[in-house]
Formats: sequence, structure tokens, C-alpha cells
Amino acid sequence: MDRKIIVAPSVLSMDYSRMNEQLREVGESGAEWLHFDVMDGHFVPNLTFGPDILKGFRKASDLFMDVHVMIEKPLFFAEKFLSAGADNYTFHFEAVPEEEEIRRLSGIVRSQGKSAGISIKPDTPAEVLKPYLDLFDVFLVMSVEPGFGGQKFIPESLDKIRAIRSWLDEAGIDAHVEVDGGINDTTAKLAVSAGADVLVAGSYVFGNNIREAVKHLA
Ligand code: DX5
Ligand code: ZN
Repeated sequence: MDRKIIVAPSVLSMDYSRMNEQLREVGESGAEWLHFDVMDGHFVPNLTFGPDILKGFRKASDLFMDVHVMIEKPLFFAEKFLSAGADNYTFHFEAVPEEEEIRRLSGIVRSQGKSAGISIKPDTPAEVLKPYLDLFDVFLVMSVEPGFGGQKFIPESLDKIRAIRSWLDEAGIDAHVEVDGGINDTTAKLAVSAGADVLVAGSYVFGNNIREAVKHLA
């Protein structure tokens, strides 16, 4: 099945001294999502933005706000990011391994009419997501160790993308399979042929001409 490819530039790599200018360029580039990396310095060894910064981005961009939380307490922060403007809220399985909490988080996000996502780190097998295929709209496969932009794509991620896509197809579930980390014009093609339909790219987009980079990914 031919899926439309969605490009989601990650704001982690943008030049914050030129935020409005770059957001405008991203808005005109054909990218449809804005990937917003939230880090708490505990779940990952880096610290980024909170809900108040998301409110600023919400005002400055009408793109679909794809919030990816790499934090220890995704349940505590869910409502805060949703009310700050998140259109999708993706948390990490590794921060919430209990089935009851995973179901609860999906319910909180979806009950507000928003998109719910779950993500796995490179060392986490895709199989952990199998019981939850009907609970999420986005399955985010990390193709780098979360925490930083500019890392090298981990090729083993392709098997996980392939597996999740095949389980979704078998179950007749039309959810997004998103890949995040080390995506450029070369790795994007590999990820799409494995079944990804949402491509996160930070350094490749903001380290080059934004329009050109997005065009090369879609
Ligand atoms: C890493 C973040 C990614 C990162 C992608 O923890 O989740 O979204 O910003 O950056 P690149 O595309 O440079 O690997
Ligand atoms: Zn991310």
C-alpha cells in the first residue's frame, strides 16, 4: 500500500536565534509535522523544553505538533503538553512498562481527541508493542539512542519498522510508523521501504537548506 510520506523536522536542531524565520521556512517547505523533543535530564542525559515553550511554537506555527517526550513522568505531563498545543503525544515504553499505565495514557490522550504515540529505544524489542496496536496512532521507532541530534542511523531499526508495519497491516490498523534519528536522504529511503510513513529529521533539515532537505526526504 502506498502511504503518503510525512516529514517531521525536529526543532531540537533548529537555530533558536532565527526561530520565527526557520519556522516560516519549515511551514513553506511541505513538511506537515513539527517534531518537538522534550527531555528531562533523567530519562535521557539532556534537557530541552517544557509546555510553556510549546505554547510559543503553537502560536508561531500551524503545523501538526508532534510531541516526543523522553521523560520519566509522561503521565504527569500529558495534560500539560496537550493543553499547551500538542496534536500528538508520544511517550516511551521504557518509562511506562506497566500495561495498566500504557492503557491509561492512551485513554487520556485520545479522550481529548488527540493522537497517541508510543516509542521504543534501539535496545527495546518491537515485540513489546504487539499488545497495544489498537491503542496508538503513532509507533515511533528510535533509530538512534534518544538524547541528542546529529547521531548515526542504527540500521537494525529497519527490522523493527518492518515488523511493526506488518503487525499493523495484519490487524488492519492504519497507524503511523514514525522513524526518528539519523534520517537523511539515504536513510529515509531505507526507512520508507521498510514501512515508515513519518520521517523525523533534525540535523539533516536544519543543517542544510530547509526546503531542499525536506524535498529530498518526502
Ligand atoms: C533524539 C530526538 C530526535 C532527534 C533527531 O533524542 O528524539 O528527534 O532530534 O535528530 P537527527 O535527525 O539529527 O538525528
Ligand atoms: Zn524525537
